[in-house]
Amino acid sequence: MSPTMIAPVVVEENNRYQKGVKHLCDNGLTKVPTKYIWPEPDRPIFTKSDKLTKPKQNLKLPIIDFAELLGPNRSHVLRTIAEACETYGFFQVVNHGMEGDVSRNMIEVCKKFFELPYEERSKYMTSDMSAPVRYGTSFNQNKDNVFCWRDFLKLYAHPLPDYLPYWPSSPSDFRSLATTYATETREMFEMMVKAIMESLEIDGDDNEAAKELKEGSQMVVVNCYPPCPEPELTLGMPPHSDYGFLTLLLQDDVEGLQILYRDEWVTIDPIPGSFVINVGDHLEIFSNGRYKSVLHRVLVNSTKPRISVASLHSFPLTSVVKPSPKLIDEHNQPQYMDTDFATFLQYISTREPKWKNFLESRKIHHL
Ligand code: OGA
Ligand code: NI
Repeated sequence: MSPTMIAPVVVEENNRYQKGVKHLCDNGLTKVPTKYIWPEPDRPIFTKSDKLTKPKQNLKLPIIDFAELLGPNRSHVLRTIAEACETYGFFQVVNHGMEGDVSRNMIEVCKKFFELPYEERSKYMTSDMSAPVRYGTSFNQNKDNVFCWRDFLKLYAHPLPDYLPYWPSSPSDFRSLATTYATETREMFEMMVKAIMESLEIDGDDNEAAKELKEGSQMVVVNCYPPCPEPELTLGMPPHSDYGFLTLLLQDDVEGLQILYRDEWVTIDPIPGSFVINVGDHLEIFSNGRYKSVLHRVLVNSTKPRISVASLHSFPLTSVVKPSPKLIDEHNQPQYMDTDFATFLQYISTREPKWKNFLESRKIHHL
């Protein structure tokens, strides 16, 4: 067959996948299309009986109680945060002050968004990474050879008045519920920054970085993972680290998130109403490598749809990301080169942001 005869079919197939996994599933599916089949070493490990092999118990991340953080035990809680960021790059937060209704409503309204007809969702589809709202699929759908079992809605969220007019107007209560959610996550982030600074023994109030982060960017990423007929062949998200300073992740009650811990993928148990917080690349650099931006990925399952909402907080676009001057002296050399945020973004949009190759490329190798 000549290539000219194959081409239209291939183009049509690819167009089908560009519309996302939800669209694919809504049209009925009993097998995973080849486009989503990951090479064997990258797949989740399943036993012969098709059950997910659990080499260990699910990982219980250190739990930070915000109420305690604000009480007389603060210094103890700060040490727990420091240990968690060094060991796992992840921890969970309870008693964080966000009412259960706010997080439940956010999950529910996002579920409703993904249940809208494709025509409505696709209004927000664009390959422009700087669009205030972007609906899409996989990880980087213009670059990925193998696709991920994930659709997403990304919303720029700060300063909110600049972006709100672009947010989806359907479902009708989407904007108001997502506004409350984004505003309250931002407040949580600001409290976390203060705690993180103090845990690094940097004054939480009087430092340039904390001030910059107050004006920093925020992106709310809603992830939708429909049930998958053959979850052992694919991934919801490939191994990646988050590029920002901190990510605040809200999951529904379906597990799927795994982190790389001692060279093994371990599943994080969802705790209803809690947030999973993880160190991003900016914080690894800022802490001069003391806190780790850890690789994580997402598995899918055959029965339950899963929704997660990640709030990614970073330095402003105009900032230079660098090790904190407070952590550098004659005994502690900087371990990373200064990096302006634009370089970060350029890298993310031009190369496959898999693994931690960007952070690696910014490392200074002292003799
Ligand atoms: C992310 C992410 C994990 C999840 O959005 O960067 O890692 O559980 N999400 O959806
Ligand atoms: Ni992530």
